[in-house]
Amino acid sequence: MRIPVFAANWKMHKTGLEAVAWIREFAVATKNLSAADAEVIIAPPFTAIAAAVEATRGATLAVAGQNLHFERQGAFTGEVSAALLKAAGADLVIIGHSERRRIFGETDESVQRKVTAAHTAGLVPIVCVGETLEERERGETLAVLDRQLKAGLDGCSGDQIAALILAYEPVWAIGTGKNATATEAGEAHTHLRRRLREWFGGTHADRCRILYGGSVKPENIKELIGLEDVDGALVGGASLESSTFAAIVSVSATL
Ligand code: PGA
Repeated sequence: MRIPVFAANWKMHKTGLEAVAWIREFAVATKNLSAADAEVIIAPPFTAIAAAVEATRGATLAVAGQNLHFERQGAFTGEVSAALLKAAGADLVIIGHSERRRIFGETDESVQRKVTAAHTAGLVPIVCVGETLEERERGETLAVLDRQLKAGLDGCSGDQIAALILAYEPVWAIGTGKNATATEAGEAHTHLRRRLREWFGGTHADRCRILYGGSVKPENIKELIGLEDVDGALVGGASLESSTFAAIVSVSATL
């Protein structure tokens, strides 16, 4: 049994104070939810991580970075290493989000180096994969997922695969209001799990949580989370309001 995971990706939103207010509201809105129903992760901007970690003390919320640099330390102005994130209190880190790939030129190779850096520092990676609209229309979706998965997770052990979180985020569904249908998401998730089984073994692959991301809302989460290989969601826009995100998370308690 995989416990569902819901991760709030705040992107470039929220100060430390706003993060603390969100965390308080969310705790009230989800007070009847137990840790066995769902795991919840918030990914604030770097500048709000310390405040978020402090505010989540004693709560079941975990805090993630949205990115990291793969070097341990050095002259990399503006960058944040895995060790710095860990020291700030983060337990996880998002890697290879499509906005990082598209806007900031990240490659499968840099994703792989970041995954290794996260593991070395004791952070759990949340690795994002997903095809663009053009790739889907050319019928390349599964080939793109294979390439991103194989390159990004190269060198991981079976135990690391079991512990990490994978996020299938079709690029055309992110921030567009247009989510993948259950058929589209189901096909991608089943394919990803099949590949994990082939490459890392069934026991480890069956423990890895695969999240869907891309315009998740309270209205569409039920259908998506009902799919066998969908183990939760990575939520952007609909995570900014604590009540909306709480409504998404609460669905898992009613399954
Ligand atoms: P969205 O973003 O929920 O706003 O589509 C998802 C993501 O980018 O992780």
